[in-house]
Amino acid sequence: MPKITKENTTVRLIVSGLGNIGWRFLQILIDKQQHLRRRYGLTFQVVGTADSRGAVADPDGLDLVRIVGLKKGGRSVSDYHTEMAGPTPPGLAFGSALDLVNEIDADALCEATPVSLDDGEPGLSCMRAALRKRMHVVTPNKGPLVLAYEELTELARIKGVEILFCGTVAGGLPAINVGRRDLAGATIDRLEALPNLTTSFILAQMATGLSYEEALAAAQAQGCAEADSSLDVEGWDAAIKLVILAKSVLGVPASLDDVSVQGITGLTIADLQEAETKGRVIKLVATAQRQEEGYALTVAPTPLPLSHPLALLSGQQMGVVYHTDIYGVISAAILETEPVPSAATMLRDLLTLYA
Ligand SMILES: NC(=O)c1ccc[n+]([C@@H]2O[C@H](COP(=O)([O-])OP(=O)(O)OC[C@H]3O[C@@H](n4cnc5c(N)ncnc54)[C@H](OP(=O)(O)O)[C@@H]3O)[C@@H](O)[C@H]2O)c1
Repeated sequence: MPKITKENTTVRLIVSGLGNIGWRFLQILIDKQQHLRRRYGLTFQVVGTADSRGAVADPDGLDLVRIVGLKKGGRSVSDYHTEMAGPTPPGLAFGSALDLVNEIDADALCEATPVSLDDGEPGLSCMRAALRKRMHVVTPNKGPLVLAYEELTELARIKGVEILFCGTVAGGLPAINVGRRDLAGATIDRLEALPNLTTSFILAQMATGLSYEEALAAAQAQGCAEADSSLDVEGWDAAIKLVILAKSVLGVPASLDDVSVQGITGLTIADLQEAETKGRVIKLVATAQRQEEGYALTVAPTPLPLSHPLALLSGQQMGVVYHTDIYGVISAAILETEPVPSAATMLRDLLTLYA
């Protein structure tokens, strides 16, 4: 689908997944409605939405305030029509997000369901169905991207639509966009990233003298680590993000098997203190180093000199550094203390398509 630049365009969206990211994305659409109309001539109309318990639609546009209210109250969108006007009008309630995507006409799918690294579901099937129907897809869900990047991007190409996923790497940091758009024409000799908040937070806590176990408990208490944080602390979350960067920015057909992965579970306070005496700070760095053929991909605790752009990032920051042949060394960082920037990445992707 060509880029749409005409004024007063209404873009019909299906939003699947209304958790931390999904409902905040709807709140952003509510808050930004006037701005988006005035600045870009765009109206985003949500014609269908789904959570784990059901899906609802309205071709004339759902009431986003009501949906956000339901989700903030811990309820399901399947209560939407019931609450509004008694029995659900026929054809406007669905058993699943996939039914919704198959049945309802829309211009773009905004996919924000949980990550699955086993099969990419439920996001992967919905993305395939949307692309087949010539809908654009925007998503911060890294599961389908790391498992089926080539299939999804090829399907999008064949259908003449786009799949954009700037929220899959490092929350709201535009790491992918900087790499893909702003480094046009460059050879990237080296990419370094801190794409995982949990490990950055834990290492920052350890630098103040907490043990690994104490720092992990602090991260869990603050809500920046899952109860099962093994994917983060063992380095796999960073590895997944490195693979997505490798495929989308470096253009290499990488997989998780190509990444040498070491997490932070073996680190001690003594390791951090020893690094400090040498003027270094240990971070969990995801690196792609250009070789004669392709890139060497690694995730490992790395002692960085204090002059390194990633060294002084706090435990609530993520960052990326691109070493290029023609643009010098470009770095970017984000301070993300709550999930709004991550939720906003779906708006950024939509504006890439439509603004
Ligand atoms: N949170 C962040 O800061 C962040 C940052 C970057 C990227 N992401 C990515 O964004 C995505 C969403 O994250 P999140 O934090 O919002 O997750 P979350 O809070 O767990 O919310 C997941 C949402 O998906 C819904 N859901 C679960 N299974 C579903 C199904 N089969 N069909 C339709 N909806 C289903 C859940 O429904 P219920 O409401 O009924 O439970 C919930 O609304 C994930 O892929 C995550 O990796 C998150």
